[in-house]
Amino acid sequence: MVETQQFSREWLEQELFPLARTMRASVHERNTPQSLSGKGMVTLFYEPSTRTRLSFEIAMQRLGGWVVSTENAREFSSAVKGESLQDTIRVVNGYHPDVIVLRHHEEGSAKIAAAISKAAVINAGDGTGQHPTQALLDLFTIQEELARIDGLSVALVGDLARGRTVHSLAYLLAKFRGVRLFLVSPPNLQMRGEIKEYLERHNVSFTEHADLRTITSQADVIYQTRTQTERGSLAEEGKQENVFCVVDAQVLSLMNPNSIIMHPLPRNEEIHSEVDKDPRVAHFRQVENGLYVRMALLKMILE
Ligand code: CP
Repeated sequence: MVETQQFSREWLEQELFPLARTMRASVHERNTPQSLSGKGMVTLFYEPSTRTRLSFEIAMQRLGGWVVSTENAREFSSAVKGESLQDTIRVVNGYHPDVIVLRHHEEGSAKIAAAISKAAVINAGDGTGQHPTQALLDLFTIQEELARIDGLSVALVGDLARGRTVHSLAYLLAKFRGVRLFLVSPPNLQMRGEIKEYLERHNVSFTEHADLRTITSQADVIYQTRTQTERGSLAEEGKQENVFCVVDAQVLSLMNPNSIIMHPLPRNEEIHSEVDKDPRVAHFRQVENGLYVRMALLKMILE
């Protein structure tokens, strides 16, 4: 599971979403079957994470499986001694896990790992590339919040050049009918060309904007993202223009009453905490959906 282009609409709607709902009910009722008893997961994280690593590990443990984790592999694994990703994947395979959840700082790393791993590999974020499981939980959140995906207008906002969550989500939204995308970013952080070409090939209507407020009233979903300051100076160059992409009380006042605000988190100044009490702000419900979607994914891959 390395990129969102690989999923079909049928699989999303007929398999993943129903199973995620079943997982949600089982967590709420505290009766999750231990159906992955004896199955094992290694989480290899070369970049920091709160949500993705914890939710995968909790998902596996709730389903009865075992988990071994390297949470700072860049510092505390033999990567420090020069071991390649390929060798690390071969070594981990020698311990016979059923799945490896990999977060890595280099784009394409999940594909490299998947090509040599006997255990299933789940891409938990590969540099500026993709974050497929985040997009799956984002799409599930949109479906649960708004009861549809077809025909929605979705604003993808922020660092669209290097934000892997928006890359994965754009590919997924292109699978639905009549979706319209507003790509809102400072000029130097615009969506990557290859994704815009993909949207054009799949007849997805999109427009680019530098000021969120100009399209706020037309959006059903405002999907805000963090500037990827850890990935170089591009962000600094766009700092002046970033103020036009902030979700604040003014943006809330311009929003449609039935629209929602999402954010993959963590957040910085791009979304003010003062907006959190508005019921249209869905980001903590979105976080919770991550557990149910990842439980469903693990069941589908490992059972
Ligand atoms: N949304 C997300 O990927 O968060 P973490 O970096 O905390 O995993």
